Amino acid sequence: MQAIVQQLKSTVEKTKATDIRAAFAADTGRFQKFSARFDDLTMDYSKTAVNDEILALLENLAEAGGVAAKREEMFSGVSINFTEGRAVLHTALRNRSNSPVMVDGKDVMPDVNAVLEAMGKFAEGIRSGELKGATGKPITDFVNIGIGGSDLGPVMVTLALAPYHDGPRAHFVSNVDGAHIADTLKLLNAETTLFIVASKTFTTIETMTNAASARAFIAERLGEGAVGHHFAAVSTALDKVAAFGIDSDRVFGFWDWVGGRYSIWSAIGLPLMIAVGAENFGKFLDGAHAMDSHFRTAPTRQNLPMLLGLLGFYHRNVLDYSTRAILPYDQRLLRFPAYLQQLDMESNGKGVTIDGKPVEGNSGPVVWGEPGTNGQHAFYQLIHQGTSIIPAEFMIAANGFEPHLRHQHDLLIANCLAQSEALMKGRSFEEAKAQLTSKGMADDRADFIAPHRVFTGNRPSITFVYDKLTPFALGRLIALYEHRVFVEGVLFRINSFDQWGVELGKELATGLLPVVEGKESAEGHDSSTQGLVTTLAALKS
Ligand code: F6P
Repeated sequence: MQAIVQQLKSTVEKTKATDIRAAFAADTGRFQKFSARFDDLTMDYSKTAVNDEILALLENLAEAGGVAAKREEMFSGVSINFTEGRAVLHTALRNRSNSPVMVDGKDVMPDVNAVLEAMGKFAEGIRSGELKGATGKPITDFVNIGIGGSDLGPVMVTLALAPYHDGPRAHFVSNVDGAHIADTLKLLNAETTLFIVASKTFTTIETMTNAASARAFIAERLGEGAVGHHFAAVSTALDKVAAFGIDSDRVFGFWDWVGGRYSIWSAIGLPLMIAVGAENFGKFLDGAHAMDSHFRTAPTRQNLPMLLGLLGFYHRNVLDYSTRAILPYDQRLLRFPAYLQQLDMESNGKGVTIDGKPVEGNSGPVVWGEPGTNGQHAFYQLIHQGTSIIPAEFMIAANGFEPHLRHQHDLLIANCLAQSEALMKGRSFEEAKAQLTSKGMADDRADFIAPHRVFTGNRPSITFVYDKLTPFALGRLIALYEHRVFVEGVLFRINSFDQWGVELGKELATGLLPVVEGKESAEGHDSSTQGLVTTLAALKS
């Protein structure tokens, strides 16, 4: 693989591939050549530094990296998460074909379907008012208590599908900072509130602490006996949930072959189901399943996740770009960048290969972003004129949900397209100077000012266009990104499905709590930590 990476580097030089502007000037058919389509979803990657030779080499890279074989291993339940001895089967959760998926000789589909059915019954019971609070009032609000994958997915999708939200109001509490739950509880009436405790492990300190506060909120207002009516739980650790005191008919399980950041398709999606109903949740799963089939069967040049993954690897390891910006032109995708941040960075932020050796080159980039057009008025300055090249990934629907605001949606589209055009085309010194002199600026002053108004251009971007952000389209979009992370992980030769990097901080926090509480001495900690403990203790009121 390293040989192909070297070939790619020399081909970039030889073909001057990073002069994207020149490539457009030379070929009016560039969009047709370097875009791919799956139903109404188009991926335009013509504004990246690719050409035929580079694309052919990237295809070789996918071959040499064994991406297709690894993909089959994932879909068929092989324990590719070998450091934890687990299969990786979030695709089974949305396997709408219902074909058998075997783990340790057992088809998982009957269990998947049974949980989905139980979730549906519960969600519809809450939505219809049939399932009530302890005092007989219908549930008007629910609070998902979870963190990481047990929070980001539910928050992101519930917000994204706001036009379909006709169930009780949704709230999300994640941070161990008491401010989060306190500010949320202020808005709520105990009699009409349901808490969903969502934790794969049911040990996560943030979630358990917030769940205890929520339990106290109900018990203090309605009595201990009311707790059962106001709680539900989602977890793989059913024994631990039982110990918390949540009735088994309100507990929705999933399995260790579902990673936290890939769990939105499981019972972790219960908040979305309560918000938009079981039928729309089914369409969300349908969209992801459609993308799974596409990923599994489409040839590389037409395969959106393959192309996106190959380009991601190319940007990171051939062109050495260290971050990527996720820029949805959709206010309802507000939390999509944060969701992808976990998906991508927790999966591919690894330094050791599957052979236990240091990664050659780089693994995953820093992923960040905000919806447009807001980002334009904040950080786009650096994307356009800063010293780092930041590949941008734009996404835009042809249609919004507000036909009476068509003009605003067209403005949104125009802005999205303008940004990728500006990044690619840039503005030369001569153009900048001519613009200034045409407004009457003196020649020498224009010479002085124009450099500040130059845009180098040739800055890469990928744009996704689709009809509308329906449940189907959202499921498809998330699955697309999941598979892109998979492709990149295979090429980085890492295990994308464990997350040991989060452990050390957790262990140290557990050890530091008694120190912070003044029950133990800070001795043995480094002088900075000791100094900070002492400084905070002196300020404590
Ligand atoms: O600390 C990281 C992590 O383990 C994530 O991978 C996970 O999504 C999150 O914590 C929450 O874990 P749980 O669902 O077990 O509470």
